Amino acid sequence: MSELNKIALKIISNGKGILAADESNGTMTKRLEAVNVASTSENRLLFRQTLFSSEGMKKYIGGVILYDETINQTTNFGKSIPDLISSSGAIPGIKVDTGAKILANSSEEKITEGLDGLRERLNKYYKLGARFTKWRGVYTISNKYPSKLAISSNAHALARYSALVQESKMVPIVEPEVLMDGDHSADICLRKTSEVIKKCFDELILHKVDLTGIILKPNMILSGSKSKGQISNEEISQKTLECLKNSVPNEVPGIAFLSGGQSEIEATKNLNLINQNNYTKFIMTYSYGRALQQSALGIWSKNIKDIDATQNTFNHRAKMCSLATQGKWSNKLENK
Ligand code: 13P
Repeated sequence: MSELNKIALKIISNGKGILAADESNGTMTKRLEAVNVASTSENRLLFRQTLFSSEGMKKYIGGVILYDETINQTTNFGKSIPDLISSSGAIPGIKVDTGAKILANSSEEKITEGLDGLRERLNKYYKLGARFTKWRGVYTISNKYPSKLAISSNAHALARYSALVQESKMVPIVEPEVLMDGDHSADICLRKTSEVIKKCFDELILHKVDLTGIILKPNMILSGSKSKGQISNEEISQKTLECLKNSVPNEVPGIAFLSGGQSEIEATKNLNLINQNNYTKFIMTYSYGRALQQSALGIWSKNIKDIDATQNTFNHRAKMCSLATQGKWSNKLENK
């Protein structure tokens, strides 16, 4: 078993998943302003250190994805953020892309940037304690999109990123996110997502990436958020499994879904059914941002000094997600 495979498995095995706390300062400002908290670096740190010090972290979180600001911060009790995460038994990770920009010659689509100087940045993050990384490609669905150009250029970037990350002895999270915005059907989402993921693996293989040392972070197969033809949770799980079974090579150790704008309960329920029905050999877990933090952020915003209330809310959410990785979640446990 390679070192990279061991790290990947440590992050996603035993009912654990990933806490995606890597919101850029811009995104975090939107999240904090939505709950009327000032987006200062102290407040961003306070919310995050509250989650990272919780019991739920120890039991249910195998890895945390950080943003550059956070990985460099020290808590008000004197521990660095990577040390705080490691002391809970989880592995610190870091978002290394620098964001999605307009794609030349397909101006309504995006290409993710950040390859220039990446090798040097990776060395710096390794020294700070990171052992895995994230890069997100983003695709929209419409009758013309995602275009072949967007599919191909983002897959190329994800593969070059992954090769550099493995060279630096870290595990790349490969995140091709097909957005749920739009009025498309779930079958179109299935077709487009499959095309996107297959192209990513063509490029990963071309760039000689060790597929046993990556984690795939895809979207689930959903109808567009404005579609009139919403499908059941059972159908979501079946279509998601069909997509991954047919597009992901068997060497990949695991899949950690993004929540992508689903509510906390929907994201949990869908993951639970995916695991109840799982006929693939992949571990299926969570790498949720909003679906792990939304309620906790709401509670925290009412009194940012009330550590217990915030942690209790986070602990419950993380526990529900962990139960979903074992297909053991239920409405009854949710509301207990
Ligand atoms: P969400 O779960 O809120 O979609 O965030 C996950 C993530 O890391 C997006 O890149």
